[in-house]
Amino acid sequence: MSSHSPAVEAARRRTFAIISHPDAGKTTLTENLLLAGGAIRAAGQVRARGENRRTRSDWMKIERERGISVSASVMTFDHDGLMFNLLDTPGHEDFSEDTYRTLTAADAAVMVLDAAKGIEPQTLKLFEVCRLRDIPIVTFINKMDREAQDPFALLDEIASKLALDPAPLYWPAGSGGRFKGMLDLRREQFLPFAKGSHEGHPAPVALKSNAIVTHLDPDEQGELEEGAMLVQEAAKPFDPQSFLEGHMTPVFFGSALRHFGVEQLLEGLGAYAPAPKPVAALRAGEETHIAPGEKEVTGFVFKVQANMDPNHRDRIAFLKLCSGRFSRGMKLKVQNTGRQLSVNAPVMFFASDRELAEDAFAGDVIGIPNHGVLRVGDSLSESGQVRFAGLPNFAPEILQRVRVKDPLKAKHLKKALEGLAEEGVTQLFRPHIGADFIVGAVGQLQFEVMADRLANEYALEVIFEASPFAEARWLAGDKADVEDFMGKHRTALAADIDDQPVFLAKSAWEIGYVSERFPKVRFERTKERA
Ligand code: G4P
Repeated sequence: MSSHSPAVEAARRRTFAIISHPDAGKTTLTENLLLAGGAIRAAGQVRARGENRRTRSDWMKIERERGISVSASVMTFDHDGLMFNLLDTPGHEDFSEDTYRTLTAADAAVMVLDAAKGIEPQTLKLFEVCRLRDIPIVTFINKMDREAQDPFALLDEIASKLALDPAPLYWPAGSGGRFKGMLDLRREQFLPFAKGSHEGHPAPVALKSNAIVTHLDPDEQGELEEGAMLVQEAAKPFDPQSFLEGHMTPVFFGSALRHFGVEQLLEGLGAYAPAPKPVAALRAGEETHIAPGEKEVTGFVFKVQANMDPNHRDRIAFLKLCSGRFSRGMKLKVQNTGRQLSVNAPVMFFASDRELAEDAFAGDVIGIPNHGVLRVGDSLSESGQVRFAGLPNFAPEILQRVRVKDPLKAKHLKKALEGLAEEGVTQLFRPHIGADFIVGAVGQLQFEVMADRLANEYALEVIFEASPFAEARWLAGDKADVEDFMGKHRTALAADIDDQPVFLAKSAWEIGYVSERFPKVRFERTKERA
């Protein structure tokens, strides 16, 4: 049990997520960060091949193959006096609204780019969610041991596509077969890369020392020095404040697979990534900010996961703590329902072992097993008086029509769909015209989860059909303008679960078209839930 105050404990938390496009190296980097953090002893066995590659969660794969318990949601490790909480952002086939919601629980994000590919579509989408929540971004340019794009081009891409100032803290010497290492721009030290090594790389040498010749030939050295000089002239110097405000990203280079540059990244996270901040909330109806050091234990549920064991009907709700010292056995109240629960068996996720949490602080995530009492977006606190802003909904990217096989059960279906939408499994849209329901998701997995739960919990067999719509946007603006638009687009309107008006479009192009014609109406990609 920790003897420090909540404020001191919160200040040493670093809670972050990794965002990337599939195959950029998130799994490999996760494993190597755990290695760098001392949470595991060896890396290199996580990558599954063949059959195993189709495993649902990258982390489940890690869990199975390494025999460690990660429960696919958060890994905690203590390193250098800091507590790191690494949140999983499910990708690949696992991509779902949970991926976005997890980011709402992160205090910082590491954006992993494949050095050969730069910014890819899913990186961009996840980045936009981070920006929406003002989450500072650390960039890790991975796979330098492979033929990479020109590092200047990569920085330009960050600047132009993300409107972020890239501030490299290191500068690479070559790439691929000619990758020699990187220069620490702050310390003028060269970090040599040993080809073929998975972990052991030579100790850093001063750039101006004679020892540099063992690692770089004169041409390579000249090129590195010139590149470093140019980039320091061209790029703004790293400004921690600008990073925290979301305008600047410190850039690291490396090879997750070869365990190169990973320690530097972890050190950078420790030094610059923020500890949990005060969070805006309503307390007994009054607007306020809840500081991490406050005495009262508060937090919000950002994800609910069905038990991985299909014989168990219970779920685990993941609670991001915002303040206080949580201790096991404590009673917490759900703000919106007033229900009280005794948290007797909270789960904390240490990379080395799954343990019962004895205590936890702001920044930490605890898993609370329950039978469906807790929902995504719920606020929990000792008094039951604290309410954090709800989690946003994100415009779905897949829209499908859903029907029940037995037409006599149509009423039943409506109730079930509403229940699942309230829980945040999928989104529900009722078109103004016509009787079909349209369900929306950001990832295919959400439909599978939904079909599964409809079958198991509601005994409903459903059929998904293609819907004519491809995009959904929430309408906002002055009432008269919105009504004018709605009057002219009746066949493309729907109501969401909260009866908010939604425009359903057949394509992204159509959204561009209508927004030009109705400039006073806003077509929003997210909706903050009250
Ligand atoms: P993801 O979770 O973001 O999808 O990426 P993951 O870590 O699974 O990595 C995707 C592929 O990229 C893997 O290769 C992995 O070994 C490789 N990789 C990751 N980091 C690096 C790096 O720094 N350098 C190089 N050269 N490769 C890297 P794969 O061929 O798909 O799998 P495997 O069969 O090699 O295990």
